[in-house]
Amino acid sequence: MEPYSKTNNIIKNSINNLNLPKNVKIFDTTLRDGEQTPGVSLTPDEKVEIAINLNNIGVDIIEAGFPISSHGEQEAIKKITSLNMNAEICGLARAVKKDIDVAIDCGVDSIHTFIATSPLHREYKLKMSKEEIINRAVDAIEYIKEHGLKVEFSAEDATRTEIDYLIEVYKNAEDAGADRINVPDTVGVMIPRAMTYLISQLKKEISIPISVHCHNDFGLAVANSLGAVEGGAQQVHCTVNGLGERAGNAALEEVVMSLMMIYGIDTNINTEKLTEISNLVSKLTGINTQPNKAVVGENSFAHESGIHAHGVLAHALTYEPIPPEIVGQKRKIILGKHTGAHAIQSKLKELGLEVGKNVSEEQFKEIVNRIKDIGDKGKMITDADVIAIVEDITKRT
Ligand code: KIV
Ligand code: ZN
Repeated sequence: MEPYSKTNNIIKNSINNLNLPKNVKIFDTTLRDGEQTPGVSLTPDEKVEIAINLNNIGVDIIEAGFPISSHGEQEAIKKITSLNMNAEICGLARAVKKDIDVAIDCGVDSIHTFIATSPLHREYKLKMSKEEIINRAVDAIEYIKEHGLKVEFSAEDATRTEIDYLIEVYKNAEDAGADRINVPDTVGVMIPRAMTYLISQLKKEISIPISVHCHNDFGLAVANSLGAVEGGAQQVHCTVNGLGERAGNAALEEVVMSLMMIYGIDTNINTEKLTEISNLVSKLTGINTQPNKAVVGENSFAHESGIHAHGVLAHALTYEPIPPEIVGQKRKIILGKHTGAHAIQSKLKELGLEVGKNVSEEQFKEIVNRIKDIGDKGKMITDADVIAIVEDITKRT
């Protein structure tokens, strides 16, 4: 299917002047920021199972954890690195030697090192000057490079940092040998337009790839990640189901499908496995996705209204902007009070019953009314309910 940016004039015209990347790398942090979801703690074996699945769906970089945080975390990361996956395995480390040493000992391919740069963090958390922060970042990057590993450098709370200072920090990181920089919107205060602006400003000064890490405090993590791509970001941090600190991070499945189907930007993700990995992560973390969750939610491809069901049965694209199969989902026609005759006819067909053959027109009218009566009482109508209604009516008449 052609991306909407090719077939929809409004989208096409709105992104006409942008220099969009052809591909975006997916840096998955389900096993690090995602595991920071309150109440979530994965065993080493569960982390390994998720890592194997992330690798199988084609994630480019897996942030396997924060090695310094516990022995269990180190055990999990060591197990993951021993599997020699295609994905780059990354470990998080503060810009301090002891964190970096523990990460190196876990056998990771790359280290994501970070230090906060915003005035709030400088004054109240780190109690460090602007210059001390730059020196600390440079030392950490140089130390990791001396050990022959790739470095991704993050200025924590970048989006609440003075832009001139932020540029200086990132330029120093590049000069010290960082392989890519990441721009965290640590407390999710950005808007998409501001993210486009920030990344395009950074691109004028920085030659290494730029990544973003957006939190969802205002529900804008995915939109802000896309805004960053519009500004030229080549990598996006995501988590399966949008897990993460507080309101979470940008949801992998939403970022990937928007890039692919709206912008026509490729990722390496096998989208048909998105629902499967979403279900696995829900099961292992104990955090269920809401039914109306985009892309992987139970209701994402369910139609109840008669008008919608009729439309979708005539041509799927009328009410399905994404073909369900390409994300590993199936269309569901839900019977309830909003259901129309077309949907009920199609349900009967599914159950091997044809109006005019096994069911008369009169009986069909009664079946429709009975289904709507149940729906009016706020109940869901199952296949068993439909069969019982049909049997009752056809036996009587
Ligand atoms: O949100 C954040 O700033 C982080 C950093 C560790 C990059 O998760
Ligand atoms: Zn984060």
